[in-house]
Amino acid sequence: MGDDYTSPQDNAILTILRTSEEVNNLKDVDTILDKILFESRRLSNADAGSIFLVEKNSLIFSYVQNDTLFKGESANAALYQNFAIPISEQSIVGYVAKTRQALTIDDAYELDATLPFSFNKSFDEKSGYRTTSMLTIPLIAQESRLVGVMQLINAKNDMGKSVPFSDEAKTYIPLFCNNASVAIERGIMNRELILRMMQMAELRDPTETGAHVQRVGAFCAEIYGTWASRRKYSAKDIKRGRDNLRLAAMLHDVGKVGISDTILKKPGKLNDEEFATIKMHTLWGARLFKNQTSELDRMSMEIALCHHEKFGGGGYPGVAPADVWKSDEQGTTPLSGEDIPLPARICAVADVYDALASPRSYKDPFPDEKCLGILEKDAGTHFDPEIVEIFHEIFDVIKAIRDKYKETPKE
Ligand code: C2E
Ligand code: SIN
Ligand code: SIN
Ligand code: FE
Ligand code: FE
Repeated sequence: MGDDYTSPQDNAILTILRTSEEVNNLKDVDTILDKILFESRRLSNADAGSIFLVEKNSLIFSYVQNDTLFKGESANAALYQNFAIPISEQSIVGYVAKTRQALTIDDAYELDATLPFSFNKSFDEKSGYRTTSMLTIPLIAQESRLVGVMQLINAKNDMGKSVPFSDEAKTYIPLFCNNASVAIERGIMNRELILRMMQMAELRDPTETGAHVQRVGAFCAEIYGTWASRRKYSAKDIKRGRDNLRLAAMLHDVGKVGISDTILKKPGKLNDEEFATIKMHTLWGARLFKNQTSELDRMSMEIALCHHEKFGGGGYPGVAPADVWKSDEQGTTPLSGEDIPLPARICAVADVYDALASPRSYKDPFPDEKCLGILEKDAGTHFDPEIVEIFHEIFDVIKAIRDKYKETPKE
C-alpha cells in the first residue's frame, strides 16, 4: 500500500461529499429521492428501500427501490402507490419519525415483544419478498424540520446473503441524510413553485387543479424513461432526462396565463376567433423561457412551443424553436416528424390523453377504451407512433399515476 491508501472511512466521507453535490444538481423531488435512496443503498449494500415524506401528521409513501423485485430504469407502477402511515409508535417508520432517532433491526420477524411497534408483513405477503434487516433513519433538515423517513432493507454480504447493517452504515448514512434532507426540501419547493405558477393559469377554471399538471409531468417522465431505455441510454442520462422532462412538462400550458377566462371557461365550442387566441398560448408560453440558462429552460421552451404540433403535420403554432424570438413571428409552417422536439412529442400524447380522460368545461371524461382508441387512430397523423406504442406498453403505470394524482374536490 502506498500513498494512495485511503481508509474505508475516508472513502465513505468522500462518497458522501461527492454524492451530496450531485444531489444538489437535481431539481425535481422524485429524482432527488431516487438518487438519495440509490446512494444510501450503495453505501450500505442494501437490496431495497423506501422513502416516506411528512405531510400533516402522516408519512406519505413517496419512493421505493427493490433490486430483487424491480429492475433498472423501466417504468414501475410501484413508485406511484398511494398510502400513508400515521406518525405514531405502532409502526417502525412512525416510531422513527416520532423519536427522530435512527433504528436498526436485525430481523424484522424477530422483534422483541416489548417494543411499541410491530413489523407490517402485508408487503412481504403480497410480493413474496422476505424482509430481514432494516436501517430506518429520520430525514431532518434545517431548523430540525422533519422531512420524512428513509428505510433501508436487507443489507447484503459479499455472497449476496442478508446480514445486519454494519456499524459503518449506521454511522455514515445518517450523515449523508442530513445533507439529503435539505435537497429534498428544495425539490419539494421546486415542484410547489411550478404548481403555484400553473394555478395562476388554470385554477381560474374551477374544474381544473394542479392534478392535471402533475399527471402530465409524471406520464412524460415514464414515457421518456422507456423511450431512452429502448435506446440503451445510461442510467445517469435517463435520470437527467426524466428530471428535466418532469418539470418542463408541468409547464406545458404556462402560456394560458395570457388567455382570458371568458375563452378558457367557455362551456361550449369555441368560434374560430376564440380558437385562434387559444393557439397563441404556445408561443406566449415559449417566450417566457427567453433567458435560457439550462437544459430545463430549453426543454420547457420546446414543450410550451411544440406540444400542439402534429407528427404528420397540420398542428400549431408552426414556429420552429429557433424562430421563437422573432417578434413578428405569427406561425405559418407547422413542424412534422422528428423536427418536433422529442419532449414535445411525448407531451402531446400525455396531455391529450389526460384531456380526454378528464372532464373539461366543454366535455365529459371519456372511458379508457375511447381514450386509447383515439391515440391509436391518430398515431402517425397527430402522434409519434412509437410514443403511442410506449404509452400502451406502460399503461399500468399510467393508471397508477392517475390514481395517485386525482382531482381533489373543492370545498
Ligand atoms: P385542453 O382541454 O387541455 O385539450 C388539450 C388537447 O387535447 C386539445 O388540443 C386536443 O388535441 C385534445 N382534446 C381535448 N378534448 C378532446 C376531444 O374531445 N376529442 C379529441 N379528439 N381531442 C381532444 P386543442 O384542440 O388544440 O385545444 C387546446 C386547448 O384549447 C384546450 O386544452 C382547451 O383549453 C381549449 N379548447 C379546445 N377546444 C375547446 C372547446 O371546444 N371549448 C373550450 N371552452 N375550450 C376549448
Ligand atoms: C384546462 O385549462 O382546461 C386544461 C389545461 C390543459 O389541459 O393542459
Ligand atoms: C434525447 O434524450 O435524445 C432528447 C431529450 C432532449 O431533448 O434533451
Ligand atoms: Fe396546450
Ligand atoms: Fe394540458
